[in-house]
Amino acid sequence: MRVPVELKKSWRLFNHGPVTLVSAAADGAANVMAAAWVTPLDFDPPKLTVVLAADAYTRELAVRAGTLVLQVPTVSMLSIVEGVGTTSGRDVDKWSRFAIEREDEPSAPAPLVRGCVGWMVARLLDEPHLAEAYDLFVVEGIAAWADDRVYRDGRLRDDVPPELRTVHHVAGGVYVVDGEIVKAR
Ligand SMILES: Cc1cc2nc3c(=O)[nH]c(=O)nc-3n(C[C@H](O)[C@H](O)[C@H](O)COP(=O)(O)O)c2cc1C
Repeated sequence: MRVPVELKKSWRLFNHGPVTLVSAAADGAANVMAAAWVTPLDFDPPKLTVVLAADAYTRELAVRAGTLVLQVPTVSMLSIVEGVGTTSGRDVDKWSRFAIEREDEPSAPAPLVRGCVGWMVARLLDEPHLAEAYDLFVVEGIAAWADDRVYRDGRLRDDVPPELRTVHHVAGGVYVVDGEIVKAR
């Protein structure tokens, strides 16, 4: 079940560096892309950096709206990750092409991808120099949710089912799946 995550703990959804899906919507159009270069930057309010290439349609929509949704897909969703990461919404309707289901979340400014295990709605901070020089966006989280089979009270559970594990992009369609959880004393 998708449950709210306290904002000040929401950076934890991204701290282990999973590949993400970024969705954005503006003027009646909605799109989604894969993004591996998403990094926590601050705790409270939560801030992250996101690299969105200059030609990405998702970037165009996010800039127009001033908002985007960051979400964490699972290993079961690799074909969606590869699909939305290798096609452009300028050319195809990714939602139907890859049979992507959406979560019903009226407060979100763009669709939430169903099947993910973490979601954050964020607003783009005004840093035009970073975008222009590095395709880098600093975003601030304004709402977050997690699948309670994976996170409880903002903490990763010990008993995550294998099919709900998150993935890390290496390169060229190669990924590493989360493995054993170990805790420092
Ligand atoms: C696993 C994976 C990770 C990616 N990470 C990023 C990223 O961090 N930043 C980026 O700009 N593009 C990244 N891409 C490429 C975009 O997802 C790709 O350019 C996509 O076609 C953009 O779609 P759009 O034009 O519909 O927005 C990644 C692709 C894959 C497959």
